[in-house]
Amino acid sequence: MIETAQAFGVDIGGSGIKAAPVDLEKGEFAEPRLKILTPEVSTPQAVAAIVRQQLDHFEVPASAPVGIAFPAPIKPGQKLDFMANLDQSWIGVDVTEVFSEACGRPVVVVNDADAAGLAEQQYGAAKGQNGLVIATTLGTGIGTALIMNGTLVPNTELGHIMLDAKHPDAEKWASSGVREQKELGYKKWAKRLTKYYGLMEKYFNPDLFVVGGGVSRQSDKFLPYVDIKTPIVPAKLRNEAGIVGAAYYASTKQ
Ligand code: BGC
Repeated sequence: MIETAQAFGVDIGGSGIKAAPVDLEKGEFAEPRLKILTPEVSTPQAVAAIVRQQLDHFEVPASAPVGIAFPAPIKPGQKLDFMANLDQSWIGVDVTEVFSEACGRPVVVVNDADAAGLAEQQYGAAKGQNGLVIATTLGTGIGTALIMNGTLVPNTELGHIMLDAKHPDAEKWASSGVREQKELGYKKWAKRLTKYYGLMEKYFNPDLFVVGGGVSRQSDKFLPYVDIKTPIVPAKLRNEAGIVGAAYYASTKQ
């Protein structure tokens, strides 16, 4: 691993498993990231083997903190009880144990949206923001991180709120994955996002929404059409936030 990196981050998503050594001073990749496609049957063994491959590829030293951003609520020492977008065989598994065994070293696992929110709070669009920030990731699913005066309230699953009787799980109607599948135009999708962020605004009264995920690169095509009162801005670290946040989080645990 390159010397400018102090930690290693991995981001496990529904379509790709991405990893990079991270420069924690700058809050950015120290080397270009490597993306490996998520196996079609994304069992714990299959996913953990790819994470191992990532560590080997970057020759991550045993002393480096390793953080893994994972798309489900993570409570250390407890078995997983909910999984939306990877294989259901993850349920009942101690995620930290599986990854630590596969990697031959202790690793730290954190919810992917929490990792992204932490990165935005530390280095990006939510830096220095007081009050309540809701950082969201729009990808295969919708992930959320609640940050109050700089402190993360972990494991919120607000991508699954009920929008109305017809849409009992918000991410199944408003995620970026759904936009791609249904080939929705950005303006049409923004109407769905208005409904989603409008409800979140009504229930939480945040001071700022941050919108991340790969699609945040295209934010000028949809964010101006999300019609809510609360300020809503694109993530600064874009799609890098999960990896940077996981690496940062792991470094705080060592
Ligand atoms: C999961 C969350 C995750 C989000 C983004 C949701 O389906 O339940 O835990 O943060 O997707 O990956």
